[in-house]
Amino acid sequence: MEKLWSKTEIGRLELPHRLAMAPMTRSRAQDDGTPGELSSLYYSQRASMGLIISEGTQPSEDGQGYLWSPGIYNEKHIEGWKKVTDAVHEAGGFIYIQLMHAGRMSHPDNTPHHRQAVAPSAIAPGEKMFTATGMKEIPIPRELSKEDIEITIADFKKAAAAAIEAGADGVEIHGANGYLINQFISENSNRRTDEYGGSIENRTRFAIEVTKAIVEEIGADRTGFRISPGTTLGGIKEGEQISEVYLHLVNELAKFDLSYLHVMHLGNEALLREIRSIWKNPLLVNRAGRSLEDISLDIDNNLADLVPVGVWSLANPDLVERLKAGAPLNAPDPTTFFGLGSKGYTDYPTFKELESK
Ligand SMILES: Cc1cc2nc3c(=O)[nH]c(=O)nc-3n(C[C@H](O)[C@H](O)[C@H](O)COP(=O)(O)O)c2cc1C
Repeated sequence: MEKLWSKTEIGRLELPHRLAMAPMTRSRAQDDGTPGELSSLYYSQRASMGLIISEGTQPSEDGQGYLWSPGIYNEKHIEGWKKVTDAVHEAGGFIYIQLMHAGRMSHPDNTPHHRQAVAPSAIAPGEKMFTATGMKEIPIPRELSKEDIEITIADFKKAAAAAIEAGADGVEIHGANGYLINQFISENSNRRTDEYGGSIENRTRFAIEVTKAIVEEIGADRTGFRISPGTTLGGIKEGEQISEVYLHLVNELAKFDLSYLHVMHLGNEALLREIRSIWKNPLLVNRAGRSLEDISLDIDNNLADLVPVGVWSLANPDLVERLKAGAPLNAPDPTTFFGLGSKGYTDYPTFKELESK
């Protein structure tokens, strides 16, 4: 585990160690998408993580999928995020805001404008989604026109600028888990016949154009990108060409000299090794299903430079201290992952608090 605790650099930041907080939607923003009152406390409690990657944050009204997810596209959002980034920085941490456009993984009941969701093609994901009046089938989205695509890329660009204005150390582009960018990449959600559909080059075009726009706006050294090769979330089926698709994408992204690439790794070891050999900048590997004992394995095996962890950091504000001391961890409570205020959000005790009881 020694290397896990060694310093490293991503973009402009020198991080004290290699453990990162993975992005996690917590559905506790205000109705207008401004981060909730408790968000500053939640993130600053976790500032001892080497890098915090925020919950998925919509770059526009169209980009919202879930209820009470935060936005970063107006002045109120910027003010709200400023409180969060200030609190994290005061506590000695660093935070990237994850830019997440949900695309078709959305319900009109959940968005401010209540319009039909947008996607590369008019294909529903075949899933249900939580709304204020219960679980509902996700409707068929509207296919984005070429003009809409330009507007969407501009929205990402503006959101990245807004994130920096709000004091974020950078942004992570969410290209994973079945949301808009992944919907363009995947064959079964993209049936377009223009230059954004069909060939691998065409299906990855949107991802690359979004990245280019953001890099131009805030700099490559403040831009990360997340992928999840082989995901089935959101009704995605990536087909048989997963390796070809992702190697092409990673090769293209590598030309930008980004601050990092973040792989949500689902088990394709050969692909991960190939990505590692192509990608010269920092690589973050969030390995699904690994045990706590294996937390630093990818770093020790030189497959990763940083390890993002999700639920353990959600349930343990002092995860770093606990791991260093070999202290037991709080168990995460999935019933409080989403919504519900402070319960399961800011009230997980530190080990010191537990000991003093
Ligand atoms: C409550 C919850 C919310 C999540 N929200 C996001 C999200 O907004 N963006 C994202 O890229 N991944 C999201 N994920 C996936 C996590 O980033 C991570 O990949 C996953 O939890 C597996 O890592 P772990 O085993 O360390 O928790 C979420 C996971 C959980 C548990």
